[in-house]
Amino acid sequence: MSEFKDKVVIITGAGGGLGKSHALEFASRGAKIVVNDLGGSGDGIGSGDAADRVVDEIRAAGGEAIANKASVSSKEGAQSIVDDAISAYGTVDILVNNAGILRDKSFKKMTLQDWDIVMDVHLNGSAYVTAAAWPIMYDKNYGRIVMTSSTSGIYGNFGQANYGAAKMGMLGLANVLAIEGRSKNVTCNVLAPAASTRLINTIPGRDEDLDNPDPMRHPKLVTPAVLLMCAEDAPTNKVIQAGNGRFSTCAIFNNAELEFGADVTYEDLVAKKDQLLDMSEAKEGWTAIRKRMENKG
Ligand code: NAI
Repeated sequence: MSEFKDKVVIITGAGGGLGKSHALEFASRGAKIVVNDLGGSGDGIGSGDAADRVVDEIRAAGGEAIANKASVSSKEGAQSIVDDAISAYGTVDILVNNAGILRDKSFKKMTLQDWDIVMDVHLNGSAYVTAAAWPIMYDKNYGRIVMTSSTSGIYGNFGQANYGAAKMGMLGLANVLAIEGRSKNVTCNVLAPAASTRLINTIPGRDEDLDNPDPMRHPKLVTPAVLLMCAEDAPTNKVIQAGNGRFSTCAIFNNAELEFGADVTYEDLVAKKDQLLDMSEAKEGWTAIRKRMENKG
């Protein structure tokens, strides 16, 4: 029997693209899906019935799903997604924060409205839906949460200050939730996907043929990483990059600390600048700080 059979899975922004692919795959393995999607355009305008269409597709294939058309960026909307899961299926086991929009502009041209809306959907929206699901998962000692981040946040990308900041913020949120959920069997991991979707086509200069997509850029090539992060034996606090049939884990590294006394000066540091900036022998994480933080959980 599939390990996902009868699991209650919320996927935000599952009316198309990556979220739809995750929803179809979980459903085909017997999970009960809450398909959330506002149904708007790639830059977050308007609403539509994208969620209904995915629910119809799941049901036509013999699966179980309900639609929720709320915006994740409204606190009430986010709560309604979890409330709908409880009303229909009694609980929530898995949450994939996936909803997203783009408002790409160089930082000089970006309006603060472009900043706010992108932060609201990605970072605040993920926090709002997770906050609604968290007590349920925490109290029942089971939960699997995925944050959909992006290489644009992890490494940076021209024209995506708002998006990159929001996506890196989601990684920061995941770091803390992984620590706080560890003793309660609530895992939190991060996905950095790559696939042909309509979101990608909102990036200036991108024009991928979504009707005849490159098979290696299909969203379904990302979905196995999401299932792995939501499995019974899921890892926690990992960042998995997935796309084009390739998968890898990425992490933050730091080099050995330079130790000075209480009389350290700017000149002392400048004298060791090459050593300070040399990452050739860097290791993952800042072990001492990490251990101290994890012990608080
Ligand atoms: P998509 O545009 O096909 O899917 C995003 C979905 O989110 C849409 O169906 C949209 O209606 C929905 N949505 C937008 N705002 C919402 C809101 N406030 N409440 C509820 N639903 C909302 O794009 P794609 O590519 O499938 O995006 C999924 C996630 O993957 C996004 O978070 C995106 O930032 C992320 N991502 C995608 C990459 C790619 O290569 N496609 C690369 C890196 C990250």
